[in-house]
Amino acid sequence: MPSISRAVPARLRLDWPGRDWEPARDRFDKPGDLRTPRISVAETFGSATAAAAGVDARSGRLVEGDALDVARALAAEGLQAKVDLVYVDPPFASQMAYVHEARLDGPADGRVVRTTAYDDRWERDGIGSYLDMLAPRLEALVGLLAPAGSLWVHVDWRASYLVRVLLDELMGREAFVNEIVWRRAPNLGRQAASHQFGRTLDTLVVYGKPRAKLVPPTRLEPIDRGAVRWDDKGRPFTTAPRGDYTDESIARLDAEGRVHRTASGRVYVKYFLVENADGTHGRERRVDALWTDVPPLRHSRSGERTGYPTQKPRALLDRVIASGSPAGGLVVDLFGGSGTTGESAHSLGRRFVVGDASPLAIGTARARLLRAGAPFVVERCGPARPRERADAAAGAQVSVAAEGDPVRVALDAPREPLAWAIDVAHDPGRPFCSAWHSERTPGVRVRGVAREATVGRGAGPLAVRIWYDDGGIETLVVPS
Ligand SMILES: C[S@@+](CC[C@H](N)C(=O)[O-])C[C@H]1O[C@@H](n2cnc3c(N)ncnc32)[C@H](O)[C@@H]1O
Repeated sequence: MPSISRAVPARLRLDWPGRDWEPARDRFDKPGDLRTPRISVAETFGSATAAAAGVDARSGRLVEGDALDVARALAAEGLQAKVDLVYVDPPFASQMAYVHEARLDGPADGRVVRTTAYDDRWERDGIGSYLDMLAPRLEALVGLLAPAGSLWVHVDWRASYLVRVLLDELMGREAFVNEIVWRRAPNLGRQAASHQFGRTLDTLVVYGKPRAKLVPPTRLEPIDRGAVRWDDKGRPFTTAPRGDYTDESIARLDAEGRVHRTASGRVYVKYFLVENADGTHGRERRVDALWTDVPPLRHSRSGERTGYPTQKPRALLDRVIASGSPAGGLVVDLFGGSGTTGESAHSLGRRFVVGDASPLAIGTARARLLRAGAPFVVERCGPARPRERADAAAGAQVSVAAEGDPVRVALDAPREPLAWAIDVAHDPGRPFCSAWHSERTPGVRVRGVAREATVGRGAGPLAVRIWYDDGGIETLVVPS
C-alpha cells in the first residue's frame, strides 16, 4: 500500500512500492532538445469549415498521443505557463477494460460494434504502476498552467486520496482549491443492496496556481409554496435566520431592504425569489462543492451519447470550464476520450487542446467535434500508427465520375463507416486536407454517413479517407 513520508521538510511525499518517478528528474521540454516529442498536423479542414468562416482553425487541436509526450511537446512549443484550465479524466485504477459500443442503426435495430477502447488494468498491487503512469503526466500538465490557471483531476474513491497527496507534493498544499463531489448515479441496484453506502460519487480534485480564482455559478433552488412571502412592492421573498451575520452586516442588509422583523422583533434575512413560468418560486444560490444537480450521461439526450465508455456529460464539463476559465481562454485535456471537453470548450468560446492515446477515442472525438461545428486540426504526437493503411484492404471502394467539375464521388464500404472525407489535391507529403466530410449522427434514430459527395476538382489526385468505429482508418487514392 502507498505510504506518506516526510522526506522533504514541509512538503508531503507520496511513496508507493517501486515508485519510479521523481519530480523534475528528466525534463526535456526545451525546443532544441532532440528528445522533445513533437506534434505534427495530420488533418486540416478545407474551405467548407474554418477558413471560409475566417476562424483560426488552430483554436481547436485534437492530438493523438500519450499525455506525457503531448504535454511535453506543448511545453516545448511555448505553452508552458500559458494554459488557463487543465481538466483530466484519466483511468481510475478500476482494474477493468472498457468497451466502446457503436450503434449503427438505432437501439431498435440492435446492430452494435463493440471494441476495447482502453485498458484500466494495472500490475503490482494495482496502484503502484497506476501512480507511475499518472504522476509524471500530472507533473507535465502542472508545468503548462498559467499563473491564474487551475488543474481539475476527475477520479473516484480508488485514487482521489492519492491524487491529493500527489498534487500536494507537486504544487504544495496551499494550492488546494476544492474537492468537488459529483453524484454521478442514483443509489440503485447492486450499490444499494451492498453492505456499505453506495459508491455513486466521482471526485474532482482541484488545485490552483497562486492567482487562480474560480467563479462558481448560481442555480435556482426550489422553495416550498408555504415559505414564499411578498413585500410591499409585490416582490416574492423567503427568509432565513440571521445565522452568524454580525450586527454590522445586519445594518447593511437593513439599508438594502433585506431584513425582515417578526411581530416579536426577531430578525430574519430576506432572500428575494425568482418566479418560474409555472408559478413556482426558486432562490438563486451559489453552487458549492457538492454537485447533485448534474445528471448522469444516461439521462442526457441520446444524441449526446457517443458510445464511448466512461464518457462524461456535457453539463459537467460546461460547469467546470465556465467556472474555471475566462472567455477565449485555453483549456487542455490530454485524456480526452470522446471529446466532451473539446465540445464544451468550443460552445463556451474557449480554445482547446484535447488529446488521447487511443485511435478509437480520436476517431470518436473527431466526428463529434465536426458535428458540433468546432474549428480544429487533427494532430499526432510521436510515430504514425501502424493501423493506417493506404490501400483498399478494408474493402471500401470509391467511384468518381470521369468528366466534369464539380465531380460526383460515391463510396461503397461494406463496413459501416463512422466518418469519411475527401481531399481533392492529395499529396502524401502533407496533411490530409478534408475539402468535404460526413459523420454518422448518433441518437434514437442513428443517421449514417452520406454515401455520395459533390466536390470541385483540385490540383492533384483525389483521396478518400474512411474512419471506422474500431479506430481503424483507410485511405484510398484515386489516380487522376
Ligand atoms: C475516462 S476516459 C476519458 C473520457 C472523457 N472524459 C469523455 O468524456 O469521453 C480516459 C481516457 O484516457 C485515455 N488514456 C489512457 N491512458 C492514456 C495516456 N497515457 N495518454 C493519453 N490518453 C490516455 C484513454 O484512451 C481514455 O480515452
